[in-house]
Amino acid sequence: MKKIAVLTSGGDAPGMNAAIRAVVRTAIDAGMEVVGVENGYDGVLNKEFIPMGLRSVSDIIQRGGTILRSARCKAMMTDEGRDLAAKNLKEEGIEGLIVIGGDGSFRGAEELCKRGILCIGVPGTIDNDLAYTDYTIGFDTACNTVLDSINRIRDTMGSHNRVSVVEVMGRHCGDIALYTGIGGGAEVIMIPEIPMTLDELLAHMKDYENSGKRSGIIVLAEGAGSAGEIEKFLNANTNLEVRASVLGHIQRGGSPTNFDRYLGTTLGAKAVELLKSGVGNRIVGIKDGQIFDMDIIEGVSVPRTINKKLYEIAKVVAK
Ligand code: F6P
Repeated sequence: MKKIAVLTSGGDAPGMNAAIRAVVRTAIDAGMEVVGVENGYDGVLNKEFIPMGLRSVSDIIQRGGTILRSARCKAMMTDEGRDLAAKNLKEEGIEGLIVIGGDGSFRGAEELCKRGILCIGVPGTIDNDLAYTDYTIGFDTACNTVLDSINRIRDTMGSHNRVSVVEVMGRHCGDIALYTGIGGGAEVIMIPEIPMTLDELLAHMKDYENSGKRSGIIVLAEGAGSAGEIEKFLNANTNLEVRASVLGHIQRGGSPTNFDRYLGTTLGAKAVELLKSGVGNRIVGIKDGQIFDMDIIEGVSVPRTINKKLYEIAKVVAK
């Protein structure tokens, strides 16, 4: 393989730059030419190709976001879009493509494999919603950002004897809420995988009122409801003073943690290693500390499960 390309797709995630840097430098070290595609799959369709050299990825490992920029490309959902993407890559002499993104991006990669481009998927999303891998690039940083916000919110809740509903991202996945609920010592964690009715929430809040606590945090995954609605409901049905905070895109930015830089670097290098040996149609991940690869479709089909044990521990230690 002489020439490969790399792109970032879907929501950006801290650590994507570390992955781009690793791809570029590992590929050059292996004697390959590397092209960066700007703006995700949109850039493949519009031929936004830029040559990448060793120095083009200097000074980026510590930066959040993605230097290649990202997009959610609707055209890649259609056969016409996929055909054009494969044609454009072939016209540039690009034989292999590394896609850093989430499951939608991986499905696009799979379609390009069918059209003769060897593709490798690298998991980059703050959501941690890809079950085939223990962690996705960006999740750790997002959790630490949320934790910092929870700490600050807890200070002011404590001063005013209030309860805060902190809504975090994750799409349909509750991992950010679960992990930060544990790290932030939340009184209640609400995640889509273990639905909680409003009556159950009320029962929790009664326990909270009887526990002698004067302030508290409810961490709510966006897939499990809206902080504004829960704020209204609790203010109307309890004697508590409740405030909502929706953290939003603050969770996607910021300098990546060491773990996300490590993950981006090792997964990026692994992706190049696969292409170098002529292997495509794979996604890379980390399981029990080991970097591994597997078939794209098999990987994206692994059913998501929540760590129920962790959820039970969180409930006990919140008392
Ligand atoms: O997939 C990452 C993510 O941040 C989700 O947690 C969230 O639901 C979504 O992207 C937000 O998307 P956008 O930035 O397009 O509004």
